[in-house]
Amino acid sequence: MRGLSKTLAVLSAAGLLAVSACGNSDDGGGGGDSAASKDVTVFTWWADGGEKAGLDGMVSVFNTDCKDFKFVNSAVAGGAGSNAKQVLANDLQAGKPPSTFQAHAGAELKDYINAGQVDDVSQLYKDYGLDKAFPQNLIDNLTVDGKIYSIPANIHRANVVWANPAVLKKASIDGAKAPASVDAWIADMDKLKAAGVKAPLAISKGFAQEMLVEAVLLADLGADKFSGLWDGKTDWAGADVTAALEKYKKLLTYTNADREAIDWPDALQYVNKGQAGYTLMGDWVAAQQLADKVPDSAYTYWPAPGTSGTFQFLADSFTLPTNGADPDGAKCWLKTVGSAEGQKAFNTKKGSIPARSDAQPADYPKYQQGAMADWKSNKIVPSCAHGAACTLGQNNDILSALSQFSGSPDVAKLQTALGNAMKTS
Ligand code: GAL
Repeated sequence: MRGLSKTLAVLSAAGLLAVSACGNSDDGGGGGDSAASKDVTVFTWWADGGEKAGLDGMVSVFNTDCKDFKFVNSAVAGGAGSNAKQVLANDLQAGKPPSTFQAHAGAELKDYINAGQVDDVSQLYKDYGLDKAFPQNLIDNLTVDGKIYSIPANIHRANVVWANPAVLKKASIDGAKAPASVDAWIADMDKLKAAGVKAPLAISKGFAQEMLVEAVLLADLGADKFSGLWDGKTDWAGADVTAALEKYKKLLTYTNADREAIDWPDALQYVNKGQAGYTLMGDWVAAQQLADKVPDSAYTYWPAPGTSGTFQFLADSFTLPTNGADPDGAKCWLKTVGSAEGQKAFNTKKGSIPARSDAQPADYPKYQQGAMADWKSNKIVPSCAHGAACTLGQNNDILSALSQFSGSPDVAKLQTALGNAMKTS
């Protein structure tokens, strides 16, 4: 634990950490080893707002079901793990893993598997009956060479636009209906500008820009060609990719000037406060609105323009790190994560839908009820920004290309950089 605690202390001093590793009885020295060995350090980036509310829900079930163990919160603030992932990498590298950590199902998980940093938990699937509880396609996403390396907590949707109907009304736009295409959305943004909304599309740094570019590619290329961008079947150099990136360039001209300085909850506030009409963000926004008690009537949401009928997914899952401090405690956390009760307590607050197939829609808020229906009926495509389709290394390359583009937009340069990013591992 010392490596993690030390890194957290450095981040905390730098003002990057919203939640400290509270109740960390092995830090003060006097606690004694036996008490310390019962701590379960859970590493996530769910430090505030709706994300923390979701985590708290899971913890409440853990506290009831795992009385021998004490939850220790090792959350590092920053949307999509923008600070957390580096802290985690350092601690894993130093051989100081937390008891368990959050990782996305798919390519991102493979990074940790290939580095030998997570253990096979296939036996836990059998012990806890999870091989029957989760849909097979999700289990396949978590499986490498016949072994399963994490337990999924949820399914999130990435391709969602959140809008303020009162702002749209100023330009006589009907907030209840999604524009049919990216071009139609751009036309609405022109109307909003003409009605005095200076930056109709609120956006934040890093991964939010990646989500927007993914949504435009999905709309323009369609589900199959879009999926092919990540598995090598679609040519990044194609004219259709160029055309989509031109639209992305145009969309950025409708966004707030401070986009490189803010995180996704700030962009959402621009919408809630009526300074912007839209923000594109995953459905953790539903959790944030719930936590902030924003009334249902104050906002609306639909699939990103041109992507209706497609559910772009990502899944948070939890791991059993190799040589973790207290594997029994970690296993009890994993049991909670996979349980019907744990998934319900977490997902009703987190904006996501349960990964288990046996959940009852009636137990969930309205947003998740719709998402559950779409998950069943829509075409499913993966998110790159949230690790379903892309590795950590690929994402880092994409993020640096997008931040350069934000400063000086050059479509040809961006197209080459994105293609090159997907050639690396
Ligand atoms: C994603 C994560 C979500 C949510 C989001 C914003 O990567 O899967 O659960 O936390 O980041 O921070």
